[in-house]
Amino acid sequence: MLPKASVKNLLSGVDINSNVKLKAWVRTKRGSKNVAFIAMNDGSTIHNIQIVADTERFEDSLLDQITTGSCLSIEGKLIESQGSGQKVEIEANSIEILGLSPADEYPLQPKKHSLEFLRENAHLRFRSSTFGAISRIRHALIFGVHQFFHEKGFLNIHTPIITGSDAEGAGETFKVTNLDLENVPKTEEGNIDYSKDFFGKETNLTVSGQLEAELAAMALSKVYTFGPTFRAENSNTTRHLAEFWMIEPEVAFADLDDNMDLGEEMLKYLIGQILEKHQDDLDFLEARLIEEEKVKKAEDRSPMPLKEKLSFVLENNFERVSYTDAIQILRNSKPNKKKKFQYLIEGWGADLQSEHERFLVEKHFKKPVILFDYPKDIKAFYMRQNEDGETVRAMDILFPGIGEMVGGSQREERLDKLKQRMQEMNVPEEELWWYLDLRKFGTAPHSGFGLGFERLVQFVTGMGNIRDVIPFPRTPKNAEF
Ligand code: 4AD
Ligand code: MG
Repeated sequence: MLPKASVKNLLSGVDINSNVKLKAWVRTKRGSKNVAFIAMNDGSTIHNIQIVADTERFEDSLLDQITTGSCLSIEGKLIESQGSGQKVEIEANSIEILGLSPADEYPLQPKKHSLEFLRENAHLRFRSSTFGAISRIRHALIFGVHQFFHEKGFLNIHTPIITGSDAEGAGETFKVTNLDLENVPKTEEGNIDYSKDFFGKETNLTVSGQLEAELAAMALSKVYTFGPTFRAENSNTTRHLAEFWMIEPEVAFADLDDNMDLGEEMLKYLIGQILEKHQDDLDFLEARLIEEEKVKKAEDRSPMPLKEKLSFVLENNFERVSYTDAIQILRNSKPNKKKKFQYLIEGWGADLQSEHERFLVEKHFKKPVILFDYPKDIKAFYMRQNEDGETVRAMDILFPGIGEMVGGSQREERLDKLKQRMQEMNVPEEELWWYLDLRKFGTAPHSGFGLGFERLVQFVTGMGNIRDVIPFPRTPKNAEF
């Protein structure tokens, strides 16, 4: 029996003039009196392979049944293509129908569908060229993340998905419970009695693996997590998911500059990998983006085609700017003076909105920007305090079209300073006794950050909506599939 080949392998032509076997799904079928042309794809590449079926060899009743979406097993000879548009094709000797796809019911037509339509049919959208390309790039980025850290001697740590503390304050959490919601046990004071719950305490889905990663870094030196994180923010934007994946390195003996260097190096490494190894998928996505942008207003169009944009990021240093300098730039900016920002920048201390971040990146510096040393009042309790008493060693990496891609900091490693900040911010010490213990026993300077994986996939694929770069998006009022 012939071994089954992938479309990618067949298209490479190594098996030319030999008999081959392929199992895949039909993208299109067209034909004339004498032959049927069937384009097939199995997800191994953006390109389809053409099957040529002689109508003398095959019954009409067989060929007529084959429609878009059908699954076939084909045996035949891989030959140089007679037609233009492809180098090789398969001259079919046998066709077996593995699965029919009734044409009057199959939602996907051999034409372009809107992204909204594909989202509603997420069970089938893997079969679209766009989602195929995104899936391959998403995989390559996941693989690249592990490769990058592995080559640098980092250890991958699995941090818990169910946690007992919401101490980070990164956002609204989802509760985890197996209490009977129809009949919730109450304490004498009338509060929910979590001692009766599965874990004997209140628990939720994690918003970040950072605090646990810090524990590991204080022994293993260089670690990273890459896991799902959950935030019950009710934000229906093109950049937010309720369930997303985050990459969080944590490095002992690293200061904020080292942290910025690591973030920049990692982003460039990952983007470089895709540029180098996924030309075909990028070409396809770039072409689809150019089509999509034709209907947009000039000012909403991206200033560069996709691949040029990715190369540009590789070739330029990220601009490193303090929060204080950024506020100066924003205060004096046209959209601020002309009151075009929804949130006007009045002065130092303001939290930056995505409109401000995007102004800095897209209009002012025109490249990725790393903002650092933010006011302590708009950042988390664990960030290292600067001597000025006003700012902390935070850094955010901002990207064109995306806004915040990375958020991180140097951590407060001094026990007294950390305790004082926790008190000021009402973070309960009892809950985080283990986090404080680290500062008691062999504390060390350390830093880390969180990279929103889907935002990275969005940037690399040029997709405008984060829901189109994760197979099954979880967003407010939406958990289908
Ligand atoms: O800035 P954030 O909230 O940082 C943390 O959670 C830190 N504990 C990370 C660390 O230092 N280890 O989130 C990090 C990144 C953001 O920059 C953004 O890219 C992404 O996670 N992110 C989201 N992505 C999709 N949907 C959401 N709702 C997101 N919220 C944050
Ligand atoms: Mg952040």
